[in-house]
Amino acid sequence: MKFFIDTADVKEIEKYASWGVVDGVTTNPSLMSKQSLSFLDAVKKICEIVDGPISVEVTATNSEEMIKQAEEYSAMHKNIVIKVPCDAEGLKVISALKKKGIKTNATLVFSANQGLLCAKAGASYISPFVGRLDDIGQDGMELISELADIIDNYEFDTEIIVASIRHPRHVTDAALLGAHVATIPPEILEKLIKHPKTDEGIEKFLKDWEKVSK
Ligand code: E4P
Repeated sequence: MKFFIDTADVKEIEKYASWGVVDGVTTNPSLMSKQSLSFLDAVKKICEIVDGPISVEVTATNSEEMIKQAEEYSAMHKNIVIKVPCDAEGLKVISALKKKGIKTNATLVFSANQGLLCAKAGASYISPFVGRLDDIGQDGMELISELADIIDNYEFDTEIIVASIRHPRHVTDAALLGAHVATIPPEILEKLIKHPKTDEGIEKFLKDWEKVSK
């Protein structure tokens, strides 16, 4: 299973990349707006830190403009993956970029049929947003389970990125369902490694070590 970090914050990316568990990065316009560098500087810096897929989202609303943006972004670094919204214009972009050999990440996927269409159009990744589905009373993980079966049934060359992760259990469930990737916000990565019994155990061992005659 691959872990991507879901942030555009260069300091956070540096910190968690040092743990040795970050295989890639996903950004979006909202995450970009929360960091202090210019968009282009942030993308360049992220590509220097992590040697893996870096998703950068197009913001145009028609396919021609999206394709232009995609070509511009993908020329910046070999690891750039173009994030494309999962709508009708997005499908045109995904299939056009596939022909040009540019990798795509279909974002804002909320149904199995949307995921199926994006896989069929040639998306390298599809990003179902589990947390936002949970927010409206649906079961985000049920969508992951359906998409995992669909991708498997037809051997699509598309990886599922479990996105909009809100808590550690989402990561465990994604792993149990065999999702290819979980894109995890920094604060959730932090929670994954924490356990009060681990902290308590370390403290006790250190205290007892002080009593050992050296
Ligand atoms: C994924 O690619 C998105 O950037 C992200 O997971 C969205 O998460 P949110 O629903 O917490 O904004």
